[in-house]
Amino acid sequence: MLRVIAIDGPAASGKSSTAGLVAERLGWAHLDSGALYRALTLAALDTIGEGGRGTLKDMEGEGWSGPRIVALAEQLPVRLVLTGDVFRPEVAGVDVEEAIRSDRVTRHVSALAAIPEVRTWVNAQQRRAVAGVGGVVVDGRDIGTVVFPEAPLKIFLTATADERARRRLSQRGQVVDVDLVRRESQALAVRDAADSTRPIAPLKPAADAVLLDTTALTLQQQVARVVELARGLFPA
Ligand code: CDP
Ligand code: CDP
Repeated sequence: MLRVIAIDGPAASGKSSTAGLVAERLGWAHLDSGALYRALTLAALDTIGEGGRGTLKDMEGEGWSGPRIVALAEQLPVRLVLTGDVFRPEVAGVDVEEAIRSDRVTRHVSALAAIPEVRTWVNAQQRRAVAGVGGVVVDGRDIGTVVFPEAPLKIFLTATADERARRRLSQRGQVVDVDLVRRESQALAVRDAADSTRPIAPLKPAADAVLLDTTALTLQQQVARVVELARGLFPA
């Protein structure tokens, strides 16, 4: 039995926090697939150029293409490195876990993630990473639908857009006022729309995913729910 738990869902629904804590409770590793898309975006921004306003058309105009980004990823390299029980993103040997959370990366990442060659490369990295490890909780957008469709446990996390905006602002230590929530909620909606409508591997729940609306849950409650499901499915 493949020892993978797939956690998918829209931006700031709590995927990475939940996946990290579930992995800790089970003694498994945690792989945040979004970190790899973000690390590739950072590498392309720093090496190829700014990518205009972050639409795919702008970025192609600046020389961003699938083959070029994949070649860059191999050269630098862009990698996920298992450190303890967590896969951390690296660009040219440097840990970029913090640098990939910038607004500049966030504005460009969904367009880069819509490029077919990029997705093929990222998927291969994920499958290779998981092959060497006893159990992995993987979070992203297409983990249950495309990357590990045979995962025995698939979770699709949701929460209202306003709640997700509030969580993202608090996570960044920003004041949670009405205007900022509205603005952040709109930014999340733009990224979710791009991720849900792309032709390849759009964000959507797998047919056999467990849907978990976390709007009224605490982080600990949703972690407990996933751990309970995992304990019922995976032999210890
Ligand atoms: O943490 P947050 O929800 O802000 O995003 P993320 O998980 O870091 O992912 C950043 C972006 O990468 C997403 O908006 C998607 O465009 C892309 N992504 C993807 O296409 N497929 C995945 N499995 C994971 C991320
Ligand atoms: O990975 P994704 O973008 O889906 O979300 P995240 O980076 O895990 O961010 C979610 C933020 O909301 C974190 O600061 C969590 O502590 C917080 N949170 C949550 O995930 N679930 C709740 N029920 C409440 C808060």
